[in-house]
Amino acid sequence: MNRAEMRTIIIYASKYGSTRQYAEWLGNETGYPIFNIKDIQADIIKDYQRVIVGSSVHMGRLDISSWMNKHWHLMEDKPVILFSVNGTPPEQKEELQKILEFSLPKHILENVNYFPLQGRLIYAELNFWHKLLVKMMKKMDKHPGSNLVLEDYDNVRKENLVNLKNHIVSPAGMN
Ligand SMILES: Cc1cc2nc3c(=O)[nH]c(=O)nc-3n(C[C@H](O)[C@H](O)[C@H](O)COP(=O)(O)O)c2cc1C
Repeated sequence: MNRAEMRTIIIYASKYGSTRQYAEWLGNETGYPIFNIKDIQADIIKDYQRVIVGSSVHMGRLDISSWMNKHWHLMEDKPVILFSVNGTPPEQKEELQKILEFSLPKHILENVNYFPLQGRLIYAELNFWHKLLVKMMKKMDKHPGSNLVLEDYDNVRKENLVNLKNHIVSPAGMN
């Protein structure tokens, strides 16, 4: 079966909306349904042949990690695509690998196709604790993501999805 024909569900966790934005772009282009982990009855994963999981990253961790650990048994026999949305640029592979290993066990990481995407940070939109953290990290000049940019930035672009989109339509067996 061509990958493009697989019944696919998109599930995401997003604190400030950039991960949701990527999930919506993907959903609009493919017609795949989109669910926030806050609203989903995880059992519906059983009705799908493939799962795309998207997560924001905060303090060196994927925000979806506990949910994904808890529900992995519903996905483990299907192709799973994971995308993260982070301040760390995709070229910083070691840093991204640290985030993955801090978030998910080996048996999950070995069974997902992973795509890092760049996010955005708008200080004025952060909650009280995150504002405080960013302020503290700036002062200490020490934080979990080395080279993490703490000034406002917005790198959320539709084009960043190109590799992921190529993967989801490519013939099965290819990576
Ligand atoms: C308090 C805080 C901590 C963050 N920690 C990290 C981090 O450890 N690594 C990283 O790459 N990005 C980090 N980021 C950047 C976020 O991943 C980025 O803003 C992302 O777009 C958030 O996704 P969301 O809009 O879906 O919540 C952090 C942002 C904030 C506000």
